[in-house]
Amino acid sequence: MGDPLRPSAIDRVLRPVHAWVWLDPHRRARKLLRFAETEADGARDLSRAAELTADPLLRRLFLRHAEDELRHASLFRARGRALLNGLPRGPKGFEANWLAPGERGLDDLRVDRERDASLLAFLHLSEKAAARRFALYMRVLFHDPATRDVFDDVLHDEAFHMSYTHTQLDRVAAPRSRARLWQARAGRLWKAYLRAAAALASVVGTLLLRVQYFLILPPFAFLARRAARREPEGFVRARPRPPLTSQY
Ligand SMILES: [Fe+2]
Ligand SMILES: [Fe+2]
Repeated sequence: MGDPLRPSAIDRVLRPVHAWVWLDPHRRARKLLRFAETEADGARDLSRAAELTADPLLRRLFLRHAEDELRHASLFRARGRALLNGLPRGPKGFEANWLAPGERGLDDLRVDRERDASLLAFLHLSEKAAARRFALYMRVLFHDPATRDVFDDVLHDEAFHMSYTHTQLDRVAAPRSRARLWQARAGRLWKAYLRAAAALASVVGTLLLRVQYFLILPPFAFLARRAARREPEGFVRARPRPPLTSQY
């Protein structure tokens, strides 16, 4: 089996794009602050998962996992703020969140509706994706050793999350653990498709509105102006009142 922390083939191909995304210090700071929010959300969901499970070992592991994610949130937040404090005020620009989303996972999940096995399968895949992504970010952040050290620190925990979720899935769901993983993969694919479809719908909607604004509205505006030019200027004498004896 290859290195489990090796970036995915797509991310390896897109490495120059990732390097560009992380090059700008303003964008880097904003992305770190966004990652902090995602990690803190994950910590809340894991605390909820610890409340819901009836398995004492899983409860302990979920609580430890939640603490790790909270620590990651404060590491990312501290580094993002330190970067921002050292920079002049900059415009809010493109963050490329679809390309470099951080540790996204539990945001797609309703913890209350999952059983232990499906939750572990989903967590394993999310942690694995995050760990591989963070390994790639470390490689492209050679120009910012302090941020690279943060990812290095976080990556150790992500590797642990990835391996404990797999071990526990084998314990809880054996011999169907592989099937659970495939189900979770299909669920992630479906959610990725929905995200892409929503993004595409938003682009198409924006385009259609622009076409309406620039191509369909101008003829009406032109006709309205022409009609306005035909109207007499200034005060216009009111129509004479109809006689009170008439029914009209
Ligand atoms: Fe994390
Ligand atoms: Fe994690």
